[in-house]
Amino acid sequence: MSGPQRAARRVVVTQHVPAAAVDLLRGAGLDVLAREEDTPMTAAELRAAAADADGLVTLLTDRVDAALLAAAPRLSVVANVAVGFDNVDVPAATAAGVAVCNTPGVLDDATADLTMALLLATARRVPEADAFLRAGRYTHWKLEQEQLGSDVTGRRLGIFGLGKIGRAVARRASRGFDMDVVYVSGHRLPPDQEAELGVRWVEMDELLATSDFVSVHAPLTAQTHHAVDAAALARMKRTAILVNTSRGPVVDEAALAEALAAGTIAGAGLDVYEHEPSVHPGLLQQRERVVLLPHVGSATASTRSEMSRLAATSVLQVLAGERPGTLVNHAVLDEDGGLRPRTGAA
Ligand code: DGY
Repeated sequence: MSGPQRAARRVVVTQHVPAAAVDLLRGAGLDVLAREEDTPMTAAELRAAAADADGLVTLLTDRVDAALLAAAPRLSVVANVAVGFDNVDVPAATAAGVAVCNTPGVLDDATADLTMALLLATARRVPEADAFLRAGRYTHWKLEQEQLGSDVTGRRLGIFGLGKIGRAVARRASRGFDMDVVYVSGHRLPPDQEAELGVRWVEMDELLATSDFVSVHAPLTAQTHHAVDAAALARMKRTAILVNTSRGPVVDEAALAEALAAGTIAGAGLDVYEHEPSVHPGLLQQRERVVLLPHVGSATASTRSEMSRLAATSVLQVLAGERPGTLVNHAVLDEDGGLRPRTGAA
């Protein structure tokens, strides 16, 4: 590793992360500036903080754009504590020679569990039933209860985006709930893997028109932005429920609010929003079969801590000239497949 002008390389942790991740960086002899605040810096503050940083540990609420990269000439690595990295301008990072890393794998189970929780809560109207009881309205048991819901077991689940999280959801749905799982994804699985997972590829039209539940697991890209728009919602069954634990802008939120109000679809379970943390007022108005969560897909203590540890490890690897398994922009590698940490040269 070529020697910088100062003793230790600097890593900026932009917002609060569990202490173990910071300890890992400090234990490796890095000069770590770890912000304890759990809100993002302004763009100008972030640029100033990154000015002499060799590595950045960012959260999904930090915007890593070309202006930030230009203001950080020493920067070698941005490790985003999330599997999604739509907050990072990856082409700009690649052009600047900055490695971008994410946290794949460690949050699949937690996010898939939460997806099933959201699907079940919406179908079986769990929050409504809870509110009903707390309001003192449970006076007697009857066959036609106020919270009659939709069946889940044996119904069809359409998965849009069969990455690691989509597959973890498929496994739960097909094995645990005997659901008929169909999918649309950027890559079709080989037949043996489809059989092993209990999933079947269909066209998007068929997925929308025949699924009782549609669950979004696609990353946010230019291609997936508003993939679930008014036209897609109009193709869904009137009894169908839409679940999204991926990224809000994959769904046209205004169109969804309209579809719910018009009864075009029956319900929605959402963990992510188009203009997070804002939620479309039309969604907030819907109380029946609409469950809204504050982006808690990966929010178990151990998962969030593992995500932070993985991001810190990726920073250490890049600064040591190693190639992390979490690298997003493989185009940043040199002709020998190696990474050359920058040392401030433009
Ligand atoms: C991610 O990792 O992208 C989630 O949205 C937060 O865990």
